[in-house]
Amino acid sequence: MTTTWGKRQSERGPGLVLGLLLGGTGQTKKPGTNGPTDNLLDIDAYIEQAQQAERGKIHTIFLADALVTSDTAPKPGLEPVTMLSALATRTSHIGLIASISTSFTEPYNLARQVLSLDHISRGRAGWNLVTSSAGEKNFGKPLPAHDDRYAVAEEFAGVVQALWESWEPDAVSYDDRGRQAVDARKVRRIDWNSKHFQVQGPLNVSRSPQDRPILAQAGSSDEGRQLGARIADVIFTTGLTEVEPSVQIYRDFKKRAEAFGRSPDSLKILPGVAPVIGSSDAEAQRYWRDVMEEIDFEEGRKSLAGQFGGIDFEGLDLDAVIPLDELPQTAEVQGRRSRFGVFRNLIESGKVRTVRDLIIYHSSGAGHWFPIGSVENVADQLQERYERGATDGFNFLAFSLKYEPGLSAITDHLIPELQRRGIFHNDYQHETLRHNLGVA
Ligand SMILES: Cc1cc2nc3c(=O)[nH]c(=O)nc-3n(C[C@H](O)[C@H](O)[C@H](O)COP(=O)(O)O)c2cc1C
Repeated sequence: MTTTWGKRQSERGPGLVLGLLLGGTGQTKKPGTNGPTDNLLDIDAYIEQAQQAERGKIHTIFLADALVTSDTAPKPGLEPVTMLSALATRTSHIGLIASISTSFTEPYNLARQVLSLDHISRGRAGWNLVTSSAGEKNFGKPLPAHDDRYAVAEEFAGVVQALWESWEPDAVSYDDRGRQAVDARKVRRIDWNSKHFQVQGPLNVSRSPQDRPILAQAGSSDEGRQLGARIADVIFTTGLTEVEPSVQIYRDFKKRAEAFGRSPDSLKILPGVAPVIGSSDAEAQRYWRDVMEEIDFEEGRKSLAGQFGGIDFEGLDLDAVIPLDELPQTAEVQGRRSRFGVFRNLIESGKVRTVRDLIIYHSSGAGHWFPIGSVENVADQLQERYERGATDGFNFLAFSLKYEPGLSAITDHLIPELQRRGIFHNDYQHETLRHNLGVA
């Protein structure tokens, strides 16, 4: 089959790249069960899920993050790099990608933490570059405007990459007795000096076992796409309900990468997807309906505010039609611009009409595509997107934990079906995440 990206399916390399987004209430599995837990401090819960994902040969774990907790509904959770370091010692092949903000971190600290995680995991670490849409009150400095955040992010990523490369791969060696030799000529200052950052270097951690940790980027506004296309290995983007707009976004990223002189294959596009899977279409629909019946709509209304730049639809009846003309234009949104755009498009197209619809949509996949159906039906839909050139793979949201049979619906049912179809690898082929993703 010829894809819209102009390549035959068989030439598209080793198949789908799959990630799993861990974390968040209802997305974490109670140890020893298939059901969810709200306890986001229980490392055993995460270890079990990571090991299950590894048995399913999922390429990488992704951790989302925020630098705030809600005043009205505070929730405790673990810091991503710390948590992934624990997972690193209990897994052997799966990637470990942490979301870390360029607005409220220093590049030297970040470079050091992620490279340390990379050594601990022997070459499986990654950084998901996010620019944050909140957190200013915890850092004593304002959140820069949307486009300024990306200007900072661009410099920030440059510093981090230079620090990661400040040691030559063979700068350190050990003799038979474990004695270390460091060739100081192979360890260099970076002398970085730009508008926002002055960093001398070198880093105090040596070169990555995978040359450089994986750099992912989430944020799909024009500025986000441009930055991701220039520097990222992986793009985590919001999975859209419709195929054709997904093809457009995919092509757009690849064209931008090419314009920067990169091979389009060196950038993997992973939209989020929250599949609801049953043994039949009817069973999957039933799982979904059961979960929807449990929604707390007032809680849902609050969690929408974060996606809508502060608009929480407070005064609106749940069944009132959302007044489109009162919503800002997407380009005016300073917070999570591209995510807002996804919701705005859904409202504009009539797929989402009321506040209730919006909450249902948001509760199903946090704004990402959520196909509902049998294993074969969902596999067909994923395969269609792959073959039509809408994606290089998917980042699963473990929202499926809300439905029986939890994560095993993905690892024990969907993945074997994708393997039978020859579009997902049967095992990890390499030691490092970079090699397994095919972006070495
Ligand atoms: C799929 C996706 C996942 C994201 N994950 C996070 C996250 O975990 N933490 C965070 O602070 N921001 C996250 N962001 C937000 C972006 O980094 C950025 O702060 C915001 O979306 C504004 O950029 P944009 O308008 O380019 O999307 C995510 C954005 C997208 C599209």
